[in-house]
Amino acid sequence: MEVIQSPQEMQTWSLTRRQAGYKIGLVPTMGFLHEGHLSLVRKAKDYCDRIVVSIFVNPIQFGEGEDFDRYPRDLSRDLDLLQKEGVDAVFAPTVAGMYPERTRTFVETEGLDHKLCGRSRPGHFRGVTTVVSKLFNICLPQVAVFGQKDAQQVMIIEKMVRDLNFPVQIIRGDIVREPDGLAMSSRNVYLSPEDRKKATILYRSLLMARDMIREGERNPQAVRNAMIEMINQANGAEIDYVEIYNGFDLSDIEEIKGQVLLALAVRFGSTRLIDNLLLEV
Ligand code: PAJ
Repeated sequence: MEVIQSPQEMQTWSLTRRQAGYKIGLVPTMGFLHEGHLSLVRKAKDYCDRIVVSIFVNPIQFGEGEDFDRYPRDLSRDLDLLQKEGVDAVFAPTVAGMYPERTRTFVETEGLDHKLCGRSRPGHFRGVTTVVSKLFNICLPQVAVFGQKDAQQVMIIEKMVRDLNFPVQIIRGDIVREPDGLAMSSRNVYLSPEDRKKATILYRSLLMARDMIREGERNPQAVRNAMIEMINQANGAEIDYVEIYNGFDLSDIEEIKGQVLLALAVRFGSTRLIDNLLLEV
């Protein structure tokens, strides 16, 4: 496994492999890897001959006062895990390497970015689409895998790829969960033991909503209210949003039908967790 820091070297590495006829798959991450990330690596292998994983905590997708400085990092552990998965190259640039001069060019996908996480984290998705565009240009993948854990993120990236004709196929990976249902996240390590227990309420509220819908409830407000009530029972849970939208374009819905996205973000202390469920009704 090669560990590459320089964007130029990474580009050359990928160009050489592409010229040799290999199909390259990219899994972009911010590191501190867990089974969720590794499941995306395994998925990429189903589609590609050579796998690149990028590890980069991208400063421009963090807002003022967010956790960029304290975001968990452990490169040597990440490299061990990726080596075991049989990854071919890890692209782990420095901030100065990725942003050597003041960036004046940004990629922004309008319309999908003012809801859900976009509303509570202004500028976040512009930072994501900009860095992912750079990663596509540097790693030159034909396929890139993103997790459904960040449902809005993958929708925005799919839209960006269509709008800007990136020659990259986007594959979605399912959410990987802890045995008690909590969606795996690098940020779960921030949780105190008590909050870690309480955080299971997020997935339980999604399952409760799914059951309500299965039993025939079609009013999004009724389902939302039941979820909010359930989450509020967990002491210290502070809801950022609980929403039900059209699962294709995040448009508002009056009635639960077709593909719907149930999405939530909840804070426990200073830790913000997100989760979602995509349902076909
Ligand atoms: P990060 O949070 O490290 O996530 C990297 C990828 O792993 C994303 O596609 C995310 O959806 C996926 N992922 C995270 N938790 C998962 C889980 N429990 N199950 C399945 N997949 C999971 O998302 C980012 O980094 C960044 O925004 C990035 C795209 C790298 C741009 O900086």
